[in-house]
Amino acid sequence: MQQDLLPDELFDQFRAMIYRSTGIRIPENKRVMLSNRLKRRVQATGDGTFEAYYARLATGGDRLELGRFVDAITTRETYFFRDPHHFHWLAERFARELIEQARLGKRSRTISIWSAACSGGEELYSALIRLAEVHCPPPGWKLLALGTDISEAALRSAREAIYGDRSLRSVTQAERTRWFSFDSAANRWNLNEELKSRATFRSHNLLHPIREGPFDCIFLKNVLIYFDAESKARVVRQILGAIAPGGYLVVGPTEGIYGMLDPLERVESWLYRKPDGE
Ligand SMILES: C[S@@+](CC[C@H](N)C(=O)[O-])C[C@H]1O[C@@H](n2cnc3c(N)ncnc32)[C@H](O)[C@@H]1O
Repeated sequence: MQQDLLPDELFDQFRAMIYRSTGIRIPENKRVMLSNRLKRRVQATGDGTFEAYYARLATGGDRLELGRFVDAITTRETYFFRDPHHFHWLAERFARELIEQARLGKRSRTISIWSAACSGGEELYSALIRLAEVHCPPPGWKLLALGTDISEAALRSAREAIYGDRSLRSVTQAERTRWFSFDSAANRWNLNEELKSRATFRSHNLLHPIREGPFDCIFLKNVLIYFDAESKARVVRQILGAIAPGGYLVVGPTEGIYGMLDPLERVESWLYRKPDGE
């Protein structure tokens, strides 16, 4: 392939395509990054030039390649127990509150959690580990633990639930022994099968409404950093509609949506609650 860098016009066309399909606003200074990521797809498809690759995507007919394009442009960095206090809260406050409310007959014995940009599943599994440590859900309860992402590569990893040391960098040795088995030949950690079976993963674009829910707790972390105000607002509208009355939203430090969360009540800088009657 001759070209190294996307020419001006194509750079803008790809940026517009990415924005339309994902909500991600690729900054103008990321031309080298985008060119490098797309170069691999141009080579893999045999299209030879950025122009030909753009034409393949623009017709919309090649669904498989559109998926691979999304895989190529998404940043999927994540790891277990990222922001450990979020998961501590989930086990120590959230789970206890739900169980107490059910004991008082104020709610049914159900718990629903959504990891709304789950990447390789580490966020949802971290939640399930911390809940399992406090015996949540209790026997006889119904659990919905849903992880969604726009990237098929992310969803494949999440369903496989096999991780390297990088993903487990905040997992203690005792936790590794309890929740994973080590495959020494592959140098990878396999998540406990029972825990794995509690989670469901599927493809979903945050710009659109989610069909499941409403959820008792939604994690929306480290995904909206490259969204602009308009696409953030679109996502927030969907998320607000998917929180159950009295349910919680856990947000990451980079979301930049604090001013958009009305009518949620702020519990912590990273934690919001929908009023009971909403
Ligand atoms: C950096 S990861 C965050 C993973 C995890 N939430 C965390 O905080 O560690 C961002 C994820 O958002 C996903 N993503 C980006 N745009 C999306 C969209 N429009 N809808 C759904 N997921 C999206 C990416 O594929 C990626 O897996």
